[in-house]
Formats: sequence, structure tokens, C-alpha cells
Amino acid sequence: MMMRIEAVLIVALLAVTPASPALAWGNEGHQIIAYIAASELSPKARGEVSQLLGGDAESSMVQVSTWADEIRPYRRETSHWHYVDIPIGSAGYDASRDCPNDDCVVAQIERDQKIMGDRQLTPAIRAEALKFLIHFVGDIHQPLHASNNQDRGGNGMRVVFQGRYTNLHAVWDTPVVIALGDDPHSVAQTLEGEIKQPELRRWQSGSPSAWANESFRIASDEIYAKLPGSGPTYAPIVLADDYATAHARTVKTRLEEAGARLAWILDETFR
Ligand code: ADE
Ligand code: ZN
Ligand code: ZN
Repeated sequence: MMMRIEAVLIVALLAVTPASPALAWGNEGHQIIAYIAASELSPKARGEVSQLLGGDAESSMVQVSTWADEIRPYRRETSHWHYVDIPIGSAGYDASRDCPNDDCVVAQIERDQKIMGDRQLTPAIRAEALKFLIHFVGDIHQPLHASNNQDRGGNGMRVVFQGRYTNLHAVWDTPVVIALGDDPHSVAQTLEGEIKQPELRRWQSGSPSAWANESFRIASDEIYAKLPGSGPTYAPIVLADDYATAHARTVKTRLEEAGARLAWILDETFR
């Protein structure tokens, strides 16, 4: 009897445990970026965002920030829009090599920006472009979303971190962000408080290809340069217990830059 109940419980638990897809910055990273962007938004842009998404700009931006990952399995054509594979060892982003058919995060951000700003298009189409934009400006700031060491942006690099078997990409999507704190709103408030005005103005510039190159540079100099070997490995690399805290400054800056730039793009588009 006991066996039967346990079996039923296990089946029930398996049924409610969602499969975990390979996400971009984990949900927390995208939410932190959305909070930062919302707080930097001009009143005009805030009004337009709230009209397109419905409801208060901040809460709707946070809510839609992970939507692109949720629909990725069902909308196969969107799959390449989350990253750009700039080869480690190259001189940097090369559109013809790294973004064939404009099918990468750099080209997609530019497309979504155009769609969002075109008032001739329907609100539904512009709202979808806005949801994609909120997500992809985040992704392009994740160093491993703009670099590739013959390992699918670290997805093929097996590592052990905090006692768990995982991969390098996943470590940079989630645990390094969670290490900043487990409440995205309060982490965002802390980060906003750290941003100085001159720094903000300096960040609010450039283009998606420049932001991808920054990510690529960080991946080259701070991530891959400190790992043994190159290419996919079968034997996992054990990351030090302080790996996340050792990279906290970089992670914080990338989240702050992504938030500042998302706000900037929206301000410019809705000016
Ligand atoms: N798949 C292939 N390359 C990738 C990357 N750099 N980031 C995320 N997913 C990928
Ligand atoms: Zn993504
Ligand atoms: Zn990712």
C-alpha cells in the first residue's frame, strides 16, 4: 500500500516539475535589467510602454522580460535571435561571418527597434517587438551570448559549480546573478544606487554591435582566459567556490549597462 502511494506521489511530482530549458540570463538577470530600465525611463517613454504592454510600465516590463525564452521552444525561427557567436581568438564582431542572414541578436535588436518605432504598424506587432527588445538587450550583455569558443557559448563546456554538474554558459546565466541576491527588485535598487551620472551618460551610447563586442571582450579576457584548455571538454572543470563573487563586479556592470541602454533605446524611440 505504502509503495503504491509513494509511486503516485513520485509520478505527481514529475508531472508538476517543469523541464528546465537552456535560458538566457536566467529570469533573475532579465528582471533586474527590466527594473533598472523602468526606473531610468523618461515619462514619455514610460507612457508609451505602459500603453503598448498594458498596465504599469515597471511591472509589465519585468513580467515580459522572460517571455522570449518561454516561447523559444514553440517559435523555432526566434532561436538564433538570443545570441551571436563571435569566435574567441578573432578580432571581434564581423557581420558576414557571425550574423549570416541577419539571424542573430545584433540584427534582431535593430529590427525590433525599427518595428517598435513605426507607428503605422499595429499595436500588437509593436508590442511584440518591445517584448523581444526588452529581452534581447539583456541577452547581448551576457558575455557568453556574444562569444563562442567552439563550445556553443559555453553550453558545451562541462563544469562543476557549487557541487553540481552544469555547464559554463548556465553558470553565467543564473548562479553568478543569484549570488548578488535572490530578490531581483532589491538587487536592482542596489545597482541603481551605484550608477553615477557621468557613467550613465557614457553607457547610453553605442550600438548592438559595440555591446556585443564588449561582451566578447569580457568572455575572452575574463572568462575563457582563466579556464584551462579550449573547446568542448568531457571531463568537467571544477570552478572555485568563490567563482561567482570573484566575477560580481563584471556581472553587476553588465546588468547596469543593459538596464541603462534599454532605457536609452526606449527613450530615443518614443521621443
Ligand atoms: N547557442 C550557440 N551559441 C550560443 C551562444 N553563444 N549563446 C547561447 N546559445 C548559443
Ligand atoms: Zn534569451
Ligand atoms: Zn543563456
